[in-house]
Amino acid sequence: MVTLIKNIKKLIQTEDTPRKWVAGKEMANLPAIDNAWLMIEDDRILDFGTMDNCPEPDEASEIDVSGRIVMPTFCDSHTHLVYAGSREIEYGDKIRGLSYEEIAKRGGGILNSTKLLAQTSEDDLYEQALERIHEIIGFGTGAVEIKSGYGLDTENELKMLRVARRLKETTPIHIKTTFLGAHSIPMEYRNDQTKFVDKVINEMIPAVAAEELADYIDVFCDKGFFTVEDTERILMAGMKYGLIGKIHANELDYSGGIQVGVKYNARSVDHLEFVGPEEIKALQGSETMPTVLPGAAFFLNMKLSPVREMMNAGLPLALASDYNPGSSPSGNMKFIMSLGCINYKMTPEEVINATTLNSAYAMGLEEDLGSIAKGKIANLIITKPIPSYEYLPYAYTSHLVEQVMLNGELIN
Ligand code: NIG
Ligand code: FE
Repeated sequence: MVTLIKNIKKLIQTEDTPRKWVAGKEMANLPAIDNAWLMIEDDRILDFGTMDNCPEPDEASEIDVSGRIVMPTFCDSHTHLVYAGSREIEYGDKIRGLSYEEIAKRGGGILNSTKLLAQTSEDDLYEQALERIHEIIGFGTGAVEIKSGYGLDTENELKMLRVARRLKETTPIHIKTTFLGAHSIPMEYRNDQTKFVDKVINEMIPAVAAEELADYIDVFCDKGFFTVEDTERILMAGMKYGLIGKIHANELDYSGGIQVGVKYNARSVDHLEFVGPEEIKALQGSETMPTVLPGAAFFLNMKLSPVREMMNAGLPLALASDYNPGSSPSGNMKFIMSLGCINYKMTPEEVINATTLNSAYAMGLEEDLGSIAKGKIANLIITKPIPSYEYLPYAYTSHLVEQVMLNGELIN
């Protein structure tokens, strides 16, 4: 089946030669075509060009999108969207002055979600997560990474990952899954953290691998959570089963998480509030995508990651939502772009690069998604009539996504 999208006001993030990512000063450039057409065959992009050369195929369904911008869907490379219930009570505690670490120390935070998740059936968990998947598709997300990490025992970690797999089988969004057994230390292991790490390595990783439930392996490598040594052990164990690293690093301190991630060739290191010259040096020349999560820093009112320093040092940068009940209860990637612009002083071009091609790389999907290129999957956002692409992050609460196409099919 062939679909022709005509009269596109601006087609953005177009690509003639495939790039794996956009780095450094290049992030300020956003390739685009004014007054464009785009042709799709089945689930793939066939071709695109300017309206003065618009093809007239015999049998194609045509969509006229005058006044609208067309861009690739967002890739959200870091979420925890399979979770049970919500944590707005803690939100109140936080407003009254408790820090994230203090809440975690009292057995709140992640462990609160762990308790709820253990009490929730797999079907119920699926239904709750499915609603979030529909929500983010409506926001224009076409690919999402989903982590486990609220199970913290084998049975419940598997439950989360099975739910993620079911979402992958039953929805049109592209899903990558990550095993995050080392997300927090359960209360009963607080005096013997190594014993918990042993359990992650000897029991959980083999079980996850046996059912082929994960693409990636993650560790919360930070002050008060897991050490560099723990992280190293877990990464090595995961890699034996083909799981690639994707690390929570340097959110709370200069934890060494970035360096250990790079050492084991992690696909991405995420959060990155604490980044100095050492960390930047480690990332330079690596294959690891630095990923910043502006929603979590905004919601927790934390120190901001030095994104400009990283880009000035020639690094690529991805942005993701971190959608989770504790530190970022939103999966709205358009709002993430706005936060990138407002709080981190990134330009509209930089945030679009960071939420499309670079975040596709951060989840290993850059060959299929993240840009408008011949042969890539037709995952597209068609905006409402808007004056320019800069308007997207500028109008920071307006819902400007009119239609979403996933795998060549309009969703709404
Ligand atoms: O990415 N930093 C660690 N983990 C999550 C928080 C999860 C939670 O609080 O439930 C994060 O922010
Ligand atoms: Fe996270």
